[in-house]
Amino acid sequence: MPRASTFAILALALLALPFVLYSAGFGLAGLTRDLSSETRLFTTPLPNALIFTHMATGAVATLLAPFQLIERIRVRRPRLHRRLGYVTLIASAITGLAGLSYIALSGTIGGPLMSAGFALYGALLIIAAANTVYHALDKNRAAHRAWALRLTVLAIGSFLYRLHYWVWYAATGGIGSTEAFTGPFDLFNFVGFYLPYLIALELYLRRERAA
Ligand code: HEM
Repeated sequence: MPRASTFAILALALLALPFVLYSAGFGLAGLTRDLSSETRLFTTPLPNALIFTHMATGAVATLLAPFQLIERIRVRRPRLHRRLGYVTLIASAITGLAGLSYIALSGTIGGPLMSAGFALYGALLIIAAANTVYHALDKNRAAHRAWALRLTVLAIGSFLYRLHYWVWYAATGGIGSTEAFTGPFDLFNFVGFYLPYLIALELYLRRERAA
């Protein structure tokens, strides 16, 4: 009988699926044809390669990181878990590196504060992916699990960023959010899509260790 956590993970993956498909499709389209009339993100070859590659690999990381948490697959199909683990690492590393390089070259629509929030996000994603694999190879189960949970929070962060906007606009019509990303809600969401969740996870892990 699948555990409740399996259902929770599958529900999360289902919720994130439209964004994953959108991101993968947008990324592949930007890498294969001229989108200059459709999006301001399509500019010159290097930034294009970086931003659209990060969308395609980001979609893979968003999909695979939660999938890796499913206990049934980890226990019964360890080889699949290991292989997909490497794919998740590579996808996360490329997403983080391409995103960071794009920010360094072109900045972001929201300016320096958004760039800083997203750059920290990219750096944390790379650190979490590297540590997850390192502790798996080191056979340190507790550390591997803790880093895998951090990685999952970060990998779905990009989806949560959009989810926050959808929920906020549906609930308030967009109070505190402007087109130039200068409202208090925009400022909060520059880090609000991953920092509060990471802090909550750290508190949970600390309580678990204490118990
Ligand atoms: C984790 C998976 C990720 C996915 C699936 C993803 C997906 C996307 C998508 C689809 C866009 C296009 C904007 C839109 O249509 O909403 C975008 C924009 C962007 N992403 Fe990501 N992303 C991910 C992670 C990251 C990371 C780690 C960074 C930073 C290192 C980053 C930096 C950016 C930047 C700078 C933009 C352009 C912002 C602007 O409009 O100026 N992304 N991303």
